[in-house]
Amino acid sequence: MSQLPESAAVPQIVYLNGAFVPIEQAMVPVLDRGFIFGDGIYEVVPVYGGKVFRWPHHLARLKRSLDRIGIANPFDDAGWGDLVQALIARHAWTDQFIYMQVTRGVARRDHAFPAGIKPTVFAMSNALQLVSAEVRAQGVRLISLPDERWLHCDIKSTSLLGNVLARQAAADAGALECVQFRDGFMTEGSSSNIWVVRNGTIFGAPRDRFILEGIRVGLMSELAAACGIPFEVRRILREEVQAADEILLTSATKEVLAACELDGRPVGHGLAAGKPGPIYHAIYAAYQKAKA
Ligand code: PDD
Repeated sequence: MSQLPESAAVPQIVYLNGAFVPIEQAMVPVLDRGFIFGDGIYEVVPVYGGKVFRWPHHLARLKRSLDRIGIANPFDDAGWGDLVQALIARHAWTDQFIYMQVTRGVARRDHAFPAGIKPTVFAMSNALQLVSAEVRAQGVRLISLPDERWLHCDIKSTSLLGNVLARQAAADAGALECVQFRDGFMTEGSSSNIWVVRNGTIFGAPRDRFILEGIRVGLMSELAAACGIPFEVRRILREEVQAADEILLTSATKEVLAACELDGRPVGHGLAAGKPGPIYHAIYAAYQKAKA
C-alpha cells in the first residue's frame, strides 16, 4: 500500500511539454486535439517501491500506439525512461502509477491531421492505492454488457467514451467491472482484461483488434506457466463465461482480481461458488512474487 493517501499534502508535480509544474498550473489549450477529438494515446504504468514494473513492455506498447495513429514519437527510449524516473523521484508514495499521454497537438479544428504541429506530451504520477485485502478476499461483482466500442480496441487511445459508458453501467449496477461480448464472444472489461477458468485451465480472448493487449496478458501466460496451470488463448463463448469455475480480471492498477458474481449470480459451483478460487490464489501469489 502507498504510505500516503492521495489526499495527503504531497504536491503533485506533473510534466507538460518540457516543464515540470504543479498540477494546478498545467494547462492545455482548448484547441488541443486531445480535448476536441480524443486524438491521442496513453499508458498506465505501475511502480512498486520506486521500481517500474514491466517498463519495456509498457514502452513498447506506447510506441506501438503512437505508430498506429501516426503521431511521431516525441522521445527516444532513454527520454521516456528519464521522464518516468523524474516523476517517481518527485513523489513520496511508495507505490505509484505513471500516466502518460500524447495527443496530436494544437491546431484549428479540422478532422484531418494538420501538418507541422507538435504533439502535446503530458505525464503524471499518482499514488497507487492497491485493492484492499477485504475486497480481494471477497471478490468483485461483474455485469455482462454488449461491446459497443469501435473496432480498434487494440490501440490504447484516449478516445474512451465507449469504455467510460461501459464502466458507468457497471457502477450503476453496483459492480466493479463489466465483461463485454461481441457477437456472442467475450472481449474484455471496460479497463481490464478478463480471464475464464474452466476445469483447471485459464482461458483468455485472442489478441486481436477487439481487445487491448494488456501488459498483464503476457504476464498471465508467464504466471500460469510458473504455477503449472494450463493456459489457452481462444474465442470464448458467453455460455462458457457464465459456466466458468472462476473469472479473473487484470489491469495495471487492479493487478489480478477474482469475480464473486456475474450478473447477480455467484461465479463457480457448489461450495466454492461466489468466492475467489484456487487458480486466483495461485496467480495472485505468483504476481506478488513477480513484483518483488
Ligand atoms: N486500463 N483493457 C482495457 C480496455 C484497459 O483500459 C486496460 C488497462 C486493460 C489492461 O491493460 P494493462 O494490463 O496493461 O493495464 C485492458 C488502464 C489501467 C487504465 O485505463 O487506467
